[in-house]
This record gives sequence, structure tokens and C-alpha cells, in this order.
Amino acid sequence: MRRITCAIVGLGNRGNDIYGHYEFVNPEEMKVVAIAEPIKEKRECGKETYHLDEEHCFETAEELLNQPQLADVIVIATQDRQHVEQAVKALSLGYHVLCEKPISPSAEECRRLQKAAHEYNRIVAVGHVLRYTPFYSKVKELVDSGRIGEIVSIQAMEHVTYWHQAHSYVRGNWRNADETSPMILAKSCHDCDIFSWLIGKKCERVSSFGSLSHFREEQAPEGAALRCLDGCKVKENCPYDAEKIYITNEKIGVRHIVKAGKTGDDAWPICVLSPTDLSEEAVYKALKTGPYGRCVYHCDNNVVDHQVVNMEFEDGITVDFQMCAFTGHGGRTIHVCGTKGDIYGNLGENQVTLEEFGKNPETFDVKEGDMSGHAGGDNRLIHDFLVAVDKGADEESLRTGIDVSIQSHLIALAAEQSRLEGGIPVKLEEVV
Ligand SMILES: NC(=O)c1ccc[n+]([C@@H]2O[C@H](COP(=O)([O-])OP(=O)(O)OC[C@H]3O[C@@H](n4cnc5c(N)ncnc54)[C@H](O)[C@@H]3O)[C@@H](O)[C@H]2O)c1
Repeated sequence: MRRITCAIVGLGNRGNDIYGHYEFVNPEEMKVVAIAEPIKEKRECGKETYHLDEEHCFETAEELLNQPQLADVIVIATQDRQHVEQAVKALSLGYHVLCEKPISPSAEECRRLQKAAHEYNRIVAVGHVLRYTPFYSKVKELVDSGRIGEIVSIQAMEHVTYWHQAHSYVRGNWRNADETSPMILAKSCHDCDIFSWLIGKKCERVSSFGSLSHFREEQAPEGAALRCLDGCKVKENCPYDAEKIYITNEKIGVRHIVKAGKTGDDAWPICVLSPTDLSEEAVYKALKTGPYGRCVYHCDNNVVDHQVVNMEFEDGITVDFQMCAFTGHGGRTIHVCGTKGDIYGNLGENQVTLEEFGKNPETFDVKEGDMSGHAGGDNRLIHDFLVAVDKGADEESLRTGIDVSIQSHLIALAAEQSRLEGGIPVKLEEVV
């Protein structure tokens, strides 16, 4: 295939560490030729990393999009509420678009992007990377083989992990639904997308319960300081202590990642606190002054910490799904129940088990090739998007085109509407 040229707007964790980094994973497939990023440090780092001249480094997406088309494709990796305006403008200029999920927290905006994709006859891929993981690809292959008969129900859980909740949904970017998105959309549009893909039918209605129960001021233990490093008296026994999470944690703490020589997305979440300097000193500085050093009971968060969602698809197929912060290990579990057998597994373990009723279970190890970034999903999605563009806007093989991506957002938005209305079922067609 030819080398596709790429502009990236939003040179943050996703834009730089995943999409931009793909230039070094598969240099023959993609070249970053323009960037837009308001934070000077990140922009300068991008300029150097991608060998760009000053004229191709913009302060904002809006500035970049005021130029004529600069590349074949554009990656929209800004924050949730910025995507649609930028993506629609990019389509009007002729770009094919890879838009991060969630497309938008507004159903109307999601539909607006879909309409624009058709109007300008361009590809819009959505960052539903889980469809590209070897794990869910195997589950899909087994469902499609017919070995479990017809799907009757699915049970699934997203184990958010206590520290991931604290990082992203209490202290971090997605803590406040009014600034970004409701958590069920931000975190679990992926899961809603997987259910839609596996079932292959329309979801008709959704009900949901959930709340922010723990990370609230009134739950703060006596003696808790406003910041973990400011003489907190309960630090020692607090699992959410920022120093335990970001400095000493054996999987993600800075001491561990520096020792292991991790960089880029492998250094997540440390690279979010201190994007251009992964030293312990820089991380301590970020904890002393930045948002990630705040006490989890004294933040400006309003998203849930646990939520359950029930879905009814066509033909009475049901899904029950739970997203919960209070888990020690991250990952997603799924159990697909069919008329002739069931399929179950844990994304984190990369193993899928199929049991045809009356036969011995078969377990498949799905670890193969590149397993970086979302259990191997990130780079496979980018590859497929570039191939689709190379083939001349052939969306046939793309698993995450805009048309199939909308339903996940409507399910998540219906769930949020239902939760806020006390659990009353919401029909998908009524989601605004
Ligand atoms: N596909 C996935 O699984 C996945 C995972 C994480 C995040 N996301 C989504 O990706 C998007 C980006 O998330 P992130 O973690 O990289 O966030 P981030 O905050 O690290 O990156 C966003 C970047 O956009 C920049 N920005 C803000 N306004 C801008 C503008 N007008 N023009 C250009 N750049 C601008 C910010 O300075 C920041 O560097 C979000 O919508 C998020 O929900 C998707």
C-alpha cells in the first residue's frame, strides 16, 4: 500500500502516544505531516518527533482546519466535546477521518457526523478499538460459526480498577460529565459496541441504575488532607493515595516504569501526569501542584463509580452489563449464552472458552502478534483504517465505520438518561 499522510489534532495521550506513534510501528504505512496542539511543550515535542517544519505545527485544530487539506487523513484526538465540529470541518476539506470515541455526548451531534460522512463521501472511523482485539475477534468468530446456536443473552462486566477510577474519573479528564461525557459513555461505549457487534441486531430499550457512592466529600476519613502530599494523616491506609499509585505501585508507578524502560503509552498513566518528563522528580512535582495529587474525596468529580445497564435487543435478546470502580484487577469479562452452547472469557487473560452443550469445553489462547495498546486493538484499527483509505474509501472491511458505531453511543446515552430518571426504560429511538 502507499504511505498515507496524516494530520493529528490533539497531541495528547491518544493523539501522540497511539496514533502518532504508529508512524514508528509501521513507517511504510503512515507519515505524520501536520499537528495541532495548544500546549507548547507537547507541540514542540511533536515537531521534533515527526520532523516537521514550523508551518505544519498549529496551536489549535481550528487553525489547522483553516488551511487547505494538508494530508490524506486526519486523526481527531481532542476532548470528547470537540470532536464533531472539528471532524465535520475536516470532512468538508476532503480528509478521511479517524475520530476518537466517544464521538460526542450528544446523540444529535453523533448523527450530524454520520450525515456529513455520507454527504462528503469520506470514511469516518471511530476509535472502537476493542473490535480489533484478538480476544473479541475470536468471540465474534465463534458466535458467527453458529456453534452456540442463537444468542439469547450476554452478561458482561467492566472491572475499571480502583486506581484507574481514581486516575481518570475522580482526579482526571473524565471526572466531570458536564466537561466531557457521562462515564457509561466515556468508558463503556466500547462494551456497548461489542454487544451490538456480537448480536448483530438493533438494541430497542435500555434501563440503568448507578451512582457516585464513594468518591465524595462526606466519605473522607477524618484527617484526610486536600492533597496527598500535604501531610495527610490517613495516607498510610488509603489505597487511593497518589504517592502509592503514581510512585510506588509495582505495575504502574514511576519507579517501576523507569526501571522497565517504558515510554509512550506503555508508561500510561504516568505519561498523562508528566507527558514530556518521566523522571520521579517530575512526577512528584506534578503530584504537588497538579490535579493528580488531589485527595479523591476532595475533587470536583460528578461521574458514577458503579453502574448497571440492562439492554433489550430485537428478538428479546438481553444483555446485562456492569461497570464498577471497586475492582483490584482491570479487564473485561463476558459470557455469551446461546441456544446450543456458551462462550466466556476475560479480555485481560486473552483466553476464550467455548462450551457446546454436552461436549468438553475448548479454550483458545488468543495472544498473537502485536498485543500492545488496548489488548492489541489500537494498532490493528489504525492499520485497517489506512488500508480502507488506500483502497479508495472502501469501508467494507472497516469494522468501526461511523454507521455501525452510532448504536453504542445511543445505548450508553439511553443508559444515562434512564439512570437519571430513576431506572425507567428508555427506547433507543427516543435518545436525544
Ligand atoms: N479509543 C480509546 O479507547 C480511548 C482511550 C482513551 C481516550 N480516548 C478518547 O480520546 C480523546 C483524547 O483523549 P486523551 O487521553 O488523548 O486526552 P489528552 O487530554 O491527553 O489529549 C487531548 C489533547 O487535545 C489537546 N487540545 C485541546 N484543545 C485542542 C484544540 N482546540 N486543538 C487541538 N488540540 C487540542 C489538549 O491540549 C490535549 O493535549 C478523548 O475523546 C478520549 O475520550 C479514547
